[in-house]
Formats: sequence, structure tokens, C-alpha cells
Amino acid sequence: MKKVKINQIAGYAPAYTVSNDDLSQIMDTSDEWISTRTGIRKRRISLNENTSVLCTKVAQQLIDKAQISVDEIGLIIVATMSPDACTPSTAALVQGQIKAPNAVAFDISAACSGFIYGMEIAQKMMRMSDFKYAIVIGGEVLSKEVDWTDRTSAVLFGDGAAGALLEANDNVEAFAGTDLKTFGDLGDQLVAGETNPIGGFPPAKFTTFHPFKMDGRAVYKFATTEVPNSIERVCDHNHVSLDDVDYFILHQANIRIIKSIAKKLNQPLTKFPNNMERYGNTSAASVPLLLAEMNENGELHAGQTIVLSGFGGGLTIGSQIIKL
Ligand code: ACO
Repeated sequence: MKKVKINQIAGYAPAYTVSNDDLSQIMDTSDEWISTRTGIRKRRISLNENTSVLCTKVAQQLIDKAQISVDEIGLIIVATMSPDACTPSTAALVQGQIKAPNAVAFDISAACSGFIYGMEIAQKMMRMSDFKYAIVIGGEVLSKEVDWTDRTSAVLFGDGAAGALLEANDNVEAFAGTDLKTFGDLGDQLVAGETNPIGGFPPAKFTTFHPFKMDGRAVYKFATTEVPNSIERVCDHNHVSLDDVDYFILHQANIRIIKSIAKKLNQPLTKFPNNMERYGNTSAASVPLLLAEMNENGELHAGQTIVLSGFGGGLTIGSQIIKL
């Protein structure tokens, strides 16, 4: 059976940085409240660059680093909850921008679990096709979906994109097990970009998109219960001991959530790297953005076992064991 490995990882975050103190100038909040409750101190905000632009920069980095021909890319998946438009998909826009004529491209919507859902779809499609390379990107411009007068959600989010280049090969297998789970009955705990059907015909006004709304406490409880369950499930099912995992790379929503999960799994916090302090919660981008940063810092090596885990809108959970 064909094997699939990670050939490259890359990330991009817009330069414009907004600190907690900056936010306290425009809403009733403080660095003390935000940082103690979430671990977030800054976030990047995209000015004039939409989600497809961020994702195209990541795709181009992946291609340049691997020095491959764009003709060999068979698949592009973008996981996002903040696409440029309902159609065309963000992935199709990326495919057009990088001029990859042989790539099938589509988006998936699984919010903060999206990168893991995308990796699972890509690796399975690669085994059943003759694609040599696939690109999976998590990319978000959440700043356009946030209500900047709502302090309960606005302080949490940031913009960015990151992804992986997957390669079909005969020798190295990266994917050692995945656990995906969806809790659609809890969907109203986290909603963004909601639209309503027209109430009469012709409609009195154009449909509007509603900004982010979240039941923070409910999502907190969900994450601290269901993420450890998912990680334990995927490890048990695939006979990987938690003690043999080098890093748990979790969705970067909140440092308190990560601490609670580390405690429940009885694993040292040193195995749970984090960067939400500098980027905030970048939804589908957060797991690959941290992976890309660790890769840049020389913290990832062949032979390591890594568990990726995302949680968020849907509600969704996804955990994946990766062998580097
Ligand atoms: N600054 C100052 N005060 C604030 C702010 C703010 N930014 N936001 C809320 N408050 C106030 C509230 O009004 C409330 O005041 P009150 O007691 O006078 O009514 C008080 O702080 C406490 O508010 P809570 O919402 O109860 O605060 P909580 O301790 O639950 O923390 C938080 C909120 C940080 C959102 C927490 O619930 C959390 O982290 N939840 C998880 C959310 C999450 O991770 N979501 C993302 C996952 S999905 C995705 O990534 C798309």
C-alpha cells in the first residue's frame, strides 16, 4: 500500500500586531483580564489580505521549500471558517493563484478542527489516487467575522494561515491513526457568519451575515472533556502509549484549556507547546501554525511521535497521530 509523508510545513501571519493594551483602548477590557483568562497577549490582524491571499503565501512557501513542479500537485484542501466567499472556494482561488493545473481544490468547514479533518481527507484520497503531492492548509481571517464591540469574543481571535505538503511515497508513513468526532447537537454553542432565509418575497433588504457568537463556558467544558477523550481514544486504538508521544500540539484557544488537558492525560506541560500568547486563536490555522513555528525552531525531528488535536465549531473534535 502506498505511504504518505509530510514533505514540508510552512506558515504565514500578517505583520500588523494588536496587543491586549491596544484592545483596551477600543473596548472595556484589560491585558490582565485577557492574559490570565486565556494566555493571549497579542494577535495578528490581516489588513487588506483576504484568506486566499494568506493561504496562497503558504502554498507558495511549501512549493519553494520542496522545489517541486506545481504540475505534480494533485489536491489542494483549505480548511477555513472565514473563506473569501461562499464560492469560489478558497482552495480554488489558491489553485488559480499558484497555477497548479492538475490539482483538484476544495474547502472544508470544520472550524478549529479543520486542519486535522483536511489532513485525514487528503491522506485517504492520496492512497486511492495517483496524486504525488497534496497541499492542506488551515487559513483564517477571523478579524472580518468578529464583532469588534463584543469584548467577550473579540479579544480571543487572530488571523493567519499554515499548512503541510503531503507526498505519496514507498518508504515513509506519517499517519498512524485519526479520531474524528462531530457533536452537531451542540452547534449553537459557537456560531459565525450565520445567515437567515428571506421572510417574504421580494425581500425588504439584502441578507446580512451575523458576527461571531459563543457560549465560552460551554465550549471550555466541552474542550476540557472531549479533547482528552479523543486523544486517549486515538492512542488506545492505535496502540500508542501517551508516554511515547513527544508533543501534543493542540488547538491554541486558551492556555487554561491546555493545562487542564495535560493534567487529565497525566502528561507534563512541557509536551504541550503553545504560541497563543503571540497569535491568539487562529481557528483552523492554529495547529499548523504552531507546527510550522516548531519546525522553524528546529524542534521537530525524524522519529518523533506527535499528536495533533483540534476542537471547535460544529462542534467538532479531531485528533491525529503523526510520525515524523
Ligand atoms: N474583558 C474584561 N471582562 C470581560 C471580557 C473581557 N474581554 N469578556 C468578558 N468579561 C467579563 C464578563 O462580562 C463577566 O463579567 P460579569 O461577571 O460582571 O458578568 C466576566 O468577565 C466573566 O465572564 P465569563 O464569560 O464568565 O468569563 P470566563 O471566565 O468564562 O472566560 C472565556 C471567558 C475566556 C471566553 C472562557 O470561557 C473560555 O476560554 N472559553 C473557551 C472558549 C474557546 O476556547 N473558544 C474557542 C474554541 S472554538 C474556536 O476556536 C473557533
